[in-house]
This record gives sequence, structure tokens and C-alpha cells, in this order.
Amino acid sequence: YMLIFNKQSDLKAYMLPFWTDQTSIGFVPTMGALHEGHLSLLRKALQENKLVMISIFVNPTQFNNPEDLENYPRTLDRDVQKIATLSDKVVIYAPTVDDIYNGKTVSQSFNYDGLEHQMEGKHRPGHFDGVGTIVKRLFEIVQPKNAYFGEKDFQQLQIIKKLAQKYNIPVNVVGCPIHREKNGLAMSSRNERLSEAEKEESALIFKTLTTAKKIFGTKSANEVSDFVKKTFEMHPQFSLEYFQIADEATLKPCLRRVKNKKYRAFIAVFINNIRLIDTISLN
Ligand code: PAJ
Repeated sequence: YMLIFNKQSDLKAYMLPFWTDQTSIGFVPTMGALHEGHLSLLRKALQENKLVMISIFVNPTQFNNPEDLENYPRTLDRDVQKIATLSDKVVIYAPTVDDIYNGKTVSQSFNYDGLEHQMEGKHRPGHFDGVGTIVKRLFEIVQPKNAYFGEKDFQQLQIIKKLAQKYNIPVNVVGCPIHREKNGLAMSSRNERLSEAEKEESALIFKTLTTAKKIFGTKSANEVSDFVKKTFEMHPQFSLEYFQIADEATLKPCLRRVKNKKYRAFIAVFINNIRLIDTISLN
């Protein structure tokens, strides 16, 4: 059987002895509709900690689009079964909106030293305030030693590291590689809304990123961006929201290449109204 808590009061009562004897607690926050990407985070957490906790909570304050929140897949029973295939000792925290927000479903505002003004921050107003609000609250409730986040949401990963640093939250934020379908499509809960044909077509996203990485060796960031724009213009089922080559640390666009800096390409693209994001390290 699996331990599932819906209330933070029950969860805290259960956790108390583990906090007291400083058990190494690994934490994987999710919004459910679990796939192999989530499970890879959970596997790493299980390898590196005595106690592992996963949260499953569709956080309303990070959705800038109400339809997206409504359409977000909710599959708790299946999620629990998937977790059980890895271990029957994972503790699951699946709170209600009220247990977390206590009737006031609003975000706190955060300053992440500018990380929040790039890419997803520009295109999803309020999103990272919502993410910061929920993750800070979850860190306070769970008090993990290690917390696992995917590079799939690289900007989110950098923002969580900043959050922990700025608020002196004693958690080690661990980044984990992107898990992909065979055709290269980055796994995502939103992929459940793609038809089989759309899934196949969406292989173009990673294929284009891979080519972008190749040509970034000899071409400027602007030239690579032009190539990516043209590629998606040739496929009208896609609509490119942004493509950006950015400094991994600041997430600011790469205007002129500087030696020893790490760069990464970021993309957000719609296929028939479903928004997909992906990223690749360039050097
Ligand atoms: P969610 O989208 O469910 O993702 C939970 C975690 O799984 C995130 O750290 C995300 O980066 C990681 N992840 C998703 N797809 C992945 C993939 N294909 N490979 C590797 N890791 C992947 O991100 C959120 O939820 C929320 O914003 C959350 C942090 C839970 C706050 O509400």
C-alpha cells in the first residue's frame, strides 16, 4: 500500500520523527499526470535519499490561462499506480487547493534578479510568482534535504535555485536531464492532448534544436534564430512563440558570444493550440 496525505497537518505529524533524526528527505514536486520524465526524477531521489516524497498538486496560481488550468490532466489513481511500480515506500502528498491556499488563491510576488523577465516570464505573466509561491510553501511543509527538478523547465530550475538562495531555504536543488520519447519529443503532461500524428510531427522541435546546436558552432545566435524561424514557417501546423539562445546563468539573450560562458537554446511553440517547450545545451 502507498501512503497518501491530503492534509499538511497529517503529513507534518508523519514527518516529525524523520525531521528530528535528520533523515535524508528527497522531494519531487509535480502537478501529476506522471510520465517517465517525472519517474526519472523519482528514481534519482530514491537512489540518493532515505525517505522520498512526491507532491501531486495542480497549482492554480501558476496558470496564466484559465482554460489551460481547466484542461490540465488529473489522473491521481494512475499516478499512484505508476509510483508504486518504482517503490511502495514513496510518500505521496496530494493536497486540496484549500489545504495549500486556505481560501486565498493568490501568489506572492518574487524578485529572482531578472531571471523572471526572460522567455516564459515574458509570455506567461505571473507564472513564476505562482511557481515560487507553491514551491516555497511546499519546501516549508516538506523540509527536504534534496529537491529534484527537470531541465525540461530550465528557467524554472534556475528560478528555484535563486528562490532557495534568496530565502535561505536549506535545500539542495538538483537538476535532472530531460527524458524524451523515441522520436526526441520531450515528455510532458501536455503531450496527452496531442494526437498520434501531432506527436510524430512534434519531433520537429527537438530535431530543429539539435540542428541549431550543430550550426551554433559556426554561426551567430541571430543566424541560428533565423534558421529556426524559417524551419517553423515551412510547417504551418506550428506557430513559433519564441526561440532564444541565452546565457545559462542569467538567461539573458546571447548578443555576442563570450568564451567560457555556457549557452542554451530555448523554444516555445504551439502545435494546433497546444503549447510545447524544449531546451538544449549548446556548449
Ligand atoms: P510538472 O510540469 O508536473 O513537472 C514536475 C517536474 O518534472 C519538474 O521539475 C519538471 O521539470 C520535471 N519534468 C517534466 N517533464 C520532464 C521530462 N521530460 N524530463 C525530465 N523532467 C521533466 O514543473 C511543475 O510541474 C510545476 O511547476 C511545479 C514545480 C510542481 C510547481 O507547481
